[in-house]
Amino acid sequence: MDEQVFIFDTTLRDGEQVPGCKLNTKEKVELALKLEALGVDIIEAGFPISSPGDFDSVTQISKIIKNASVCGLSRAVQKDIEVAGESLKYAKRPRIHTGIGTSDFHIKAKFNATQDEILQRAIQAVKWAKNFVDDVEFYAEDAGRTDNEYLARVVEAVIKAGATVVNIPDTTGYCLPYQYGEKIAYLRNHVSNIDKAVISCHCHNDLGLATANSIAGVVAGARQIECTINGLGERAGNTSLEEVVMVLKQHKHLGLYTNIQTRMLNPISREVSETMRVPVQVNKAIVGANAFSHSSGIHQDGFLKDSLTYEIINPEEVGADGSKIVLTARSGRSALAHRFHKLGYEFNRNDIDILYNSFLRVADGKKEVEEDDLHQLAKAYKPELAII
Ligand code: KIV
Ligand code: ZN
Repeated sequence: MDEQVFIFDTTLRDGEQVPGCKLNTKEKVELALKLEALGVDIIEAGFPISSPGDFDSVTQISKIIKNASVCGLSRAVQKDIEVAGESLKYAKRPRIHTGIGTSDFHIKAKFNATQDEILQRAIQAVKWAKNFVDDVEFYAEDAGRTDNEYLARVVEAVIKAGATVVNIPDTTGYCLPYQYGEKIAYLRNHVSNIDKAVISCHCHNDLGLATANSIAGVVAGARQIECTINGLGERAGNTSLEEVVMVLKQHKHLGLYTNIQTRMLNPISREVSETMRVPVQVNKAIVGANAFSHSSGIHQDGFLKDSLTYEIINPEEVGADGSKIVLTARSGRSALAHRFHKLGYEFNRNDIDILYNSFLRVADGKKEVEEDDLHQLAKAYKPELAII
């Protein structure tokens, strides 16, 4: 039986931490509704104590969201947790996400504390949160650089205190996929009550490994991935939702699935990009403008014979506009013939051979050969064929 991986979307919290991406309540509510329609299981709506605006956003999202859990972030601080609890009081499925740094970097530099003191603060935070909600997620910040033996002690203690989800963030994006996978496996093998909680992956992309690490985590037994649309998030960003969802969909042998409506991935990516004013890089997997564009002659020829030669995903499946054959100086004759055909010209092989030489002269002077250029080439070759 395939198992579900829960998708915890943090576009409205970690994603919104990107400088210049701040959202107002109306924008957050609109995006939350879209995320719910997309099929995410948990929406991290904000960090309620951080500002009155964010408190209001979490409250309004709690009122309107029906199916997904709504989550509010807090530190392991009583007042944070009370405010998070208050902001979530209208939610159908409220979750408080509380936690504390567990690596030596955090324990010494940030808290000037000892491992035992941090352990007690972690337990206390979960107990406070339990006064407000049943569903409490605990994060061990910088778990990626936390010693596994200590991390296992913390995880066991917070589950005993009532945590339903244990989040193992690679906060600094430091881990290699095999190390992150081994960390999750270690917790599964060394935490006696681990079956009472869901293990969550929260990976950052400082080394470009966030998606790979999250997948390594679920392969090792985690069942929740924390991610954002377009991979937005602190510094180099978080795991991108569209990537992990499509990895699991493509690799069915993993026996894992999500509830995401993949046809909505491109529309929601555009919506988030516009609302947060962050363009999507053109070569971004799944949602970049070039994700389904073919420009080199070898690829174009294969693609035109059978799209499966160079595309592993059908663009429709992820709501993209469709595959594109882009004409550049690296393109070949089949692509040129294909584009002429799409414009209504029927040239034979000999015509294309002749036209190809003129095409290359134009292509060498431009980044991309456009429709207008093709009409000009056709007109120059056979004026009687001119369509425009
Ligand atoms: O990256 C991180 O560790 C976080 C936590 C607050 C979950 O965002
Ligand atoms: Zn984070």
